[in-house]
Amino acid sequence: MPGAAPGAPAFPPVPRIDCEGALMLTAEQNGLLTQTDAGTPMGELMRRYWIPITIADRIVAGGAPLPIKILGEALVVFRSPSGEAGLMAESCPHRNASLALARNEDCGLRCLYHAWLVAPDGRVLETPPEPPEVNLSDKFKHPAYPCREAGGIVWAYLGREEAMPEFPEWIFEPYDDDKIYATNAFQDCNWLQGLEGDLDAQHGPYLHYTDDEAHTQDGLQNRANEYIHDQRPKVAAARRPWGLQTVFRYLHKDGKAATYWIHPFVMPFFTFFESNLLDTEGALMHAWVPATDESHWVWSVLFSESAMTDDYLEFVDRTRGYGMTDPANNWRVTAFTGEGVGYEQDRALMASGRSFSGIEGILQQDLAIQYSMGPVSDRTREHLTSGDIAIVQVRKYLLDTLAAVGDGEPAPGTKPGSQEGIVFEALTAEPDASMRELAAR
Ligand code: FES
Ligand SMILES: [Fe+2]
Repeated sequence: MPGAAPGAPAFPPVPRIDCEGALMLTAEQNGLLTQTDAGTPMGELMRRYWIPITIADRIVAGGAPLPIKILGEALVVFRSPSGEAGLMAESCPHRNASLALARNEDCGLRCLYHAWLVAPDGRVLETPPEPPEVNLSDKFKHPAYPCREAGGIVWAYLGREEAMPEFPEWIFEPYDDDKIYATNAFQDCNWLQGLEGDLDAQHGPYLHYTDDEAHTQDGLQNRANEYIHDQRPKVAAARRPWGLQTVFRYLHKDGKAATYWIHPFVMPFFTFFESNLLDTEGALMHAWVPATDESHWVWSVLFSESAMTDDYLEFVDRTRGYGMTDPANNWRVTAFTGEGVGYEQDRALMASGRSFSGIEGILQQDLAIQYSMGPVSDRTREHLTSGDIAIVQVRKYLLDTLAAVGDGEPAPGTKPGSQEGIVFEALTAEPDASMRELAAR
């Protein structure tokens, strides 16, 4: 169902769930967190924010509209002959032919079937087979959404006009366009599995373990002290006006210092890290944008203080970005476009002790795990522990936020200036620094 139906309530009723102290989710809570079609509480909450839709250069002025699913809506994203990005429902308002086939004309998309012309704002401007006096432009609007471009990304707002927040300029303001590198990939599992992978402090020293020699080859030796060797990381989280601040502590090998990752979750699906890949200072933004309830777009956007060289970009694609994707397979990660089973797991490498997983590459390791949980992980069957605190806290935060927005509160982080004070860094300090204070900064 594209967009909010006319006359639909501003926010759907949210079932009252007491999650005080609860670690395990009920099936109802899992559904609330994972279902994002129009008309669902989480779907309507996400529609209160600007959403990254596609990489800007995937659409060409006057070229083919690109079919894409976002929050369960089948859409086309396109660039007009004059260069403006547009986003509208894929199926033609006349008789549902796909507008991915449409002619891309000066005034909008013209359906191939009977030549109806739909403007980027959703008005039907022409219906050529009808008598000239027929005018549908003020009778109804085809679902169409405002777009913006920033950081090499096309963004759109899919919600109600009256709730539209300011565009999140704060993400991009500190960086010139040539110091931002945006990549994304399509993943065949629910968005929350991706986000929770980012908030899972414990998996680094296990899933991502490779020996020091492999780190050196991979240019990742600076990470060895950060998380590979501490098998019992500590975690803290604190609520903030824009989301949840999380802190992960990884004790160094010698036990004399620790690295604290201060790592915010920003509504509705972003996380930020400090990034110093190959000694280039910068930041990394992740986003998990639902496509359907059983798939999502994962974004990795790198912001750099200095110019990005080809070597640097190649390294990023291999280790932190999603540059290795297959456009012919809807931008799924290349390594998974073959049989897709087993994730090229090398049992001999695993047995050698040089790799815990036997899977090559941090990105592939994370994807394999997230896929292996199934399209929508059944969280009623989990057994969580204290190390899962950031995951528990983000679930509670999202459930509380759904209830608050259902009661008429504004969506967190949508008021102007409410992103002030978002801190993300990797801090080296003594091992007993106060996690609570770091999370509250
Ligand atoms: S189906 Fe598109 S114009 Fe008829
Ligand atoms: Fe990971």
